[in-house]
Amino acid sequence: MYKYVRKALLISLALICCIYMNGCSMLNEGRRIVRIAHGQSETHPDHIGLLAFEKYVEERLGDKYDVQIFPNELLGAAVKAIELTQTGAVDFVVCSTGNLETFDDIYSIFSIPYLFDSTEAYYTAMEDPQIRDYLYKSTESSGFEAVTWLDAGTRNFYTTKPVTSPDDLKGLKLRVQQSPSNVNMVKAFGAAAAPMSFGEVYTAIQQGVIDGAENNELALTNNKHGEVAKYYIYDRHQMVPDMLIGNVKFLDSLSDEERQVFDDAAALCTEVEREEWLLQVEEAKKQAEAMGVNFSDVDVEQFKSKVIDLQNQMVSENEKLKPIYERIQEINREVG
Ligand code: GCU
Repeated sequence: MYKYVRKALLISLALICCIYMNGCSMLNEGRRIVRIAHGQSETHPDHIGLLAFEKYVEERLGDKYDVQIFPNELLGAAVKAIELTQTGAVDFVVCSTGNLETFDDIYSIFSIPYLFDSTEAYYTAMEDPQIRDYLYKSTESSGFEAVTWLDAGTRNFYTTKPVTSPDDLKGLKLRVQQSPSNVNMVKAFGAAAAPMSFGEVYTAIQQGVIDGAENNELALTNNKHGEVAKYYIYDRHQMVPDMLIGNVKFLDSLSDEERQVFDDAAALCTEVEREEWLLQVEEAKKQAEAMGVNFSDVDVEQFKSKVIDLQNQMVSENEKLKPIYERIQEINREVG
């Protein structure tokens, strides 16, 4: 294990040195290298969606662009990879809105617990032109712009001890993303929050530094957390998307025709990722059960009652959230 970690670290270091030394002008046989970073494995739906993105762009603009995907946090964990995308050392990154929140607090909208009434409302909101227009370009002054979203399912708690009610969360130490809203949410549930990067979670659970975490089912299998945490409850506290964000200068350097190709590639990436997501979630549940993970349904209303006040609190503290929040409420009413 240590040998692999060391190897991965050395590769990352070499890549990062390379990136810093060559900056954005790095070319491969005259073609501009377009770097995309993400933190998942090569079998994860995000990666499979990105492969479709790469193929689509290269089929149309392959004489000019060489798209390269760096999975497994090779270019750094989410926070580092977002920083690299802001500066342009990396052109795109797929990351959770939880991690984006500290770079632009408009993304805290998705950290609002129980924001969406149903999966249908979530999908509708993510495809809603009004929300996209407001959200995607709003972060230009932070150096990045969203180009599409990727499904990352529903987030639930999973722990090393059985949990059946919110009271069981009291006193537990649970990993959250490096996001102030998620720290507040876990505190409102009565637990202690331990913010850390995704790649650190397995060892932290294994060594007893934390009692669990919260995520979708793929974390149990793709990231192997099900080996060390055996209780997964469907409290359904959040639906937090991953976003494909791009460096603003790079996106602005594209001609209108090229930008259209990248946008169409991004839409295809979402389509492919979502199909793959649904298949893999079902598979992940089976695999996790075989690993000895116990899935249980809990009284969602009980959990909701602990954190529902955060909705008004978060929206009243951040003016930017209001228009999206109101639109999502409309969608909740329309779609149910
Ligand atoms: C999910 C999500 C990732 C995120 C991770 C986390 O796996 O897809 O983008 O980094 O959760 O909790 O950090």
